[in-house]
Amino acid sequence: MKTIILRTDDIHRGNLILVNQEHSYQEQHAVLCTVGTWEGADILYERTAAAALNKLIQEIGGAGQIVPVSAWRSLAEQQKIWEDSLAEHGLEFTQSYVAVPGHSEHQTGLAIDLALNQPQIDFICPCFPYEGICQRFRQKAAEYGFIERYQEDKQAVTGIGHEPWHFRYVGIPHAAMMTQRGMALEEYIEFIKAYRYGENPYIVEGKYKEQYAVSYIKANAAGQAAEIAVNDRRQYSISGNNCDGFIVSIK
Ligand code: DAL
Ligand code: ZN
Repeated sequence: MKTIILRTDDIHRGNLILVNQEHSYQEQHAVLCTVGTWEGADILYERTAAAALNKLIQEIGGAGQIVPVSAWRSLAEQQKIWEDSLAEHGLEFTQSYVAVPGHSEHQTGLAIDLALNQPQIDFICPCFPYEGICQRFRQKAAEYGFIERYQEDKQAVTGIGHEPWHFRYVGIPHAAMMTQRGMALEEYIEFIKAYRYGENPYIVEGKYKEQYAVSYIKANAAGQAAEIAVNDRRQYSISGNNCDGFIVSIK
């Protein structure tokens, strides 16, 4: 067994952090790499997510057809996008399609906007249709740890308009659980709280019939670290939820 120390601050780190109108992004340092270019500038994306993205695009034969438009953004970039959109499109559009600076998933490095490669690509609302190669991407996305984050029927939950182009890396098996159960990240974060670490984990089967035990740990009061024991002969991952605790997945 191995002891893991979970500090209160750690709730703001990991693939499952919820960043939305209610939960701002607490600036952390993601490890970024280049996944493409937009108007001559590198598009940076979180390294694990980038590797998963490349594998997925390779599997569906989508190289050259699916292109990244925007991934990691600094707070200053998000602010500029917000201001430019406000000036060009007005408040209603901007509130639907641009997260308030400080509250954008793009700041985490885990979100990416993808486009079907065409001569004209819109930066804010790129075309990523529900057919052809883009739909093949969508159908495989969960297997590789991605969710379509802002679905049409979840606008009241996410606070963001329908964005067929915006994908969020949450990892395996969480993406499959959300996709199968039709849950937005907000709903998943709540759902998993009923499954307590060391008591009643949620058991889910992966693509190769491998089993994952997924559970929640509430963070201790600010400043107090929590300790958990994990079996280090099994693979595990732990992420903060950016709200009040941690989600553990043990394979
Ligand atoms: N377009 C998404 C909501 C963002 O700006 O983060
Ligand atoms: Zn986006």
